[in-house]
Amino acid sequence: MFECIPRHVGVIMDGNGRWAQLRGLPRVEGHKRGAERTKDIIRAANEIGIGYLTLYAFSLENWQRPEEEVFSLMDLLKKYLIYEIKELLEEGIGFRAIGDLERLPADVQVLLRKSEEMTAGSPGLVVVLALSYGGRNEIIRAVRKVVELGLRPEDIDEDTFVNLLDTRGMPPVDLVIRTSGEKRLSNFLLWQAAYGELYFTDTLWPDFTKEEFLFAIQDFQRRERRFGAVMP
Ligand code: IPE
Ligand code: IPE
Ligand code: MG
Repeated sequence: MFECIPRHVGVIMDGNGRWAQLRGLPRVEGHKRGAERTKDIIRAANEIGIGYLTLYAFSLENWQRPEEEVFSLMDLLKKYLIYEIKELLEEGIGFRAIGDLERLPADVQVLLRKSEEMTAGSPGLVVVLALSYGGRNEIIRAVRKVVELGLRPEDIDEDTFVNLLDTRGMPPVDLVIRTSGEKRLSNFLLWQAAYGELYFTDTLWPDFTKEEFLFAIQDFQRRERRFGAVMP
């Protein structure tokens, strides 16, 4: 059933706040339920042989949210990193974090580094958490590295530049899934998803199931990817 599995899938996990509001619950309850949903999706991605699954968990713009919401998101993240990573490790799943990670609390940074080290060389899927992440910011940080390395204009091409992005070593994004009905990228993987297929669904992230994830993959498999060329 699953020929032509995308090598890299990005997910904009949106709609936690609205899920909670619809039930008269505080937004943080939506984030909790949302965090619980990721496990199923990660397992499904691993089972069908996806190489990289990048989950947009916290954007640079999300720093503007009320302090208590940011605090509870960081708290959830710490719990997630402590309890879930161990399980993922046992299943052979790897972990990486991308984004402007220096802005995160010091204890979160330590946990992220530990999780990356513990799972380095895992044979299965790599889960990439985009945290304090913005696509424009990632590109600017890469340009800064170009300057720091003293590279000359003729040294720069797409192959050298991709190695300066946070996603170095990962294939380009084949498919971006966004839940909650919004149809925008919100600064997610701007470079990497340049030729990605886009899949939008009205389902709110806490309601997003493994079945719908597999449906999105099948939808992707029916797309004709031309990359600007003409099909023979
Ligand atoms: C996505 O859900 C999770 C984060 C951005 C951290 P939201 O919190 O954006 O939920 P809505 O869009 O307000 O419903
Ligand atoms: C994008 O969702 C960021 C994440 C899902 C982490 P937002 O809810 O922050 O984006 P906008 O405000 O709808 O663009
Ligand atoms: Mg949102």
